[in-house]
Amino acid sequence: MKDLLRVGDMSARDLALLLKLAAGFQDDPTAASELLAGRIVPMYFAKPSTRTRLSTAAAVARLGGAPVTVGPDELQLRRGETIGDTARVMGSYAAAVVIRTFADADVEELAAAAPIPVINALTDGHHPLQAVADLLTVQEHFGDLHGRRIAYVGDGANNVARSLTEAAALAGMDMAIAAPDGHLPGEEALASARAEAGRHGGSVLVTHDPAVAVAGASVVYTDVWLSMGDPEEERAHRRAAFDAYQVNQDLMDRAGEDAVFMHCLPAHRGEEVTAAVIDGGRSLAFRQAANRLPAAQAVLYALLTDQLEGRR
Ligand code: CP
Ligand code: NVA
Repeated sequence: MKDLLRVGDMSARDLALLLKLAAGFQDDPTAASELLAGRIVPMYFAKPSTRTRLSTAAAVARLGGAPVTVGPDELQLRRGETIGDTARVMGSYAAAVVIRTFADADVEELAAAAPIPVINALTDGHHPLQAVADLLTVQEHFGDLHGRRIAYVGDGANNVARSLTEAAALAGMDMAIAAPDGHLPGEEALASARAEAGRHGGSVLVTHDPAVAVAGASVVYTDVWLSMGDPEEERAHRRAAFDAYQVNQDLMDRAGEDAVFMHCLPAHRGEEVTAAVIDGGRSLAFRQAANRLPAAQAVLYALLTDQLEGRR
């Protein structure tokens, strides 16, 4: 497996390996510090980013390489050069490419033409780097993953929800998604996540009722109600539709006794989560953000040393 575009492209062994490598980089941040010596990693971000941009840049630096930010206005892509030509040229200088953009198809086209690893740093459909850091955080906190329930409450059809669901399935976790009508995972995504979860002893439940999703959950997870690239005109409608899906103290009290709160960030206090919950003692949101760095290191390391087998 050359690239990391989607969690679902990985085998269960690949995900377990990334978590093991990431835990190793937590213990020894400067391990493999010569891997990228003398090499660059272009980082193309067509959407804003704080965590992903900085954690991947730090990960490249820790592995001995130099991250080079290339904004959409700087590349000749802006003037019509094709994605394929850009990919081939990047392959002559770079060790890997990190890309955040809108369409998944653009990242797939880049990966198909690039002779070097391409890492999806968030698209409209997926956020694999986040999901790796998320499971690392759950494993770090609880000591295990298998059989634990993650309740995702909010926009169940977005990139973060999709990648988290795919990762939970590979890890044999029980995923429960609560979202309003029109914001649950699509049929196809759900069927494939259920099949994968079934292979590893996990499950995927979807419901309109947040209380049903969080019952017995170890983790209550949410994300913004309007993602980057979603039409701004939907904001008011979504606020009303998601109103009953806010993660507040009352909802946390319905989860497992030892339940933690998670959020990929950035957060909107007073919308998808209350300040009391995200800033409270059960919140792992900032631990997740910190874990983006060893997770990115693990992904870069595994791809550059060709250790991911891919889904069979
Ligand atoms: N969680 C996450 O990907 O944050 P950024 O958008 O700041 O990168
Ligand atoms: N779903 C959010 C995640 C941001 C990290 C978005 O795509 O905007």
